[in-house]
Amino acid sequence: MIEVKNIKKIFGDKTIIEDVSAVMKAGQCNLIIGSSGSGKTVLMKCMVGLFEPNAGEVLYHGENFTAMTGKDKTEIRKEIGMLFQGSALFDSQTVEQNVMFPLNMFSKDSYKIKLNRVNEVLERVNLVGANKKFPSELSGGMKKGRTGKSHRP
Ligand SMILES: Nc1ncnc2c1ncn2[C@@H]1O[C@H](COP(=O)(O)OP(=O)(O)O)[C@@H](O)[C@H]1O
Ligand SMILES: [Mg+2]
Repeated sequence: MIEVKNIKKIFGDKTIIEDVSAVMKAGQCNLIIGSSGSGKTVLMKCMVGLFEPNAGEVLYHGENFTAMTGKDKTEIRKEIGMLFQGSALFDSQTVEQNVMFPLNMFSKDSYKIKLNRVNEVLERVNLVGANKKFPSELSGGMKKGRTGKSHRP
């Protein structure tokens, strides 16, 4: 369960979101709806720790994520996946290198094990054999991994 409590985010003299609270239960599909520029992405970035809120907190399974130190935050972040509006792939890296990037940061597994993992997730999104392609060679849907038939939660 993710809880957002009284989140506030200010940029300069502009208050983007103020006093936003929500409870997102596990196993449910939770939507954030709002007009363009209303602060949906800013809220999401506060939730995953890319932005530091000016007030309020975000709790994962009852634990205060906002107040955590880097190392504890990293543990929670390993469980978070975020699909960016603009796909956010490294243009100079292949599909395989892009997918392997977080594994290289956080795992001490051998290259072979990491490659197995990469191929497993590529299979899930119907991108078998796309390992050596660069983002510029992919369609919009492929960049977002939306070509899969059966996404595992
Ligand atoms: N890094 C930033 N610095 C300053 N202002 C930002 C930043 N990110 C977003 N904003 C502003 O916050 C407001 C909400 O943006 P955003 O959350 O991206 O809207 P949306 O609801 O369309 O996702 C906009 O006015 C935008 O200009
Ligand atoms: Mg947005």
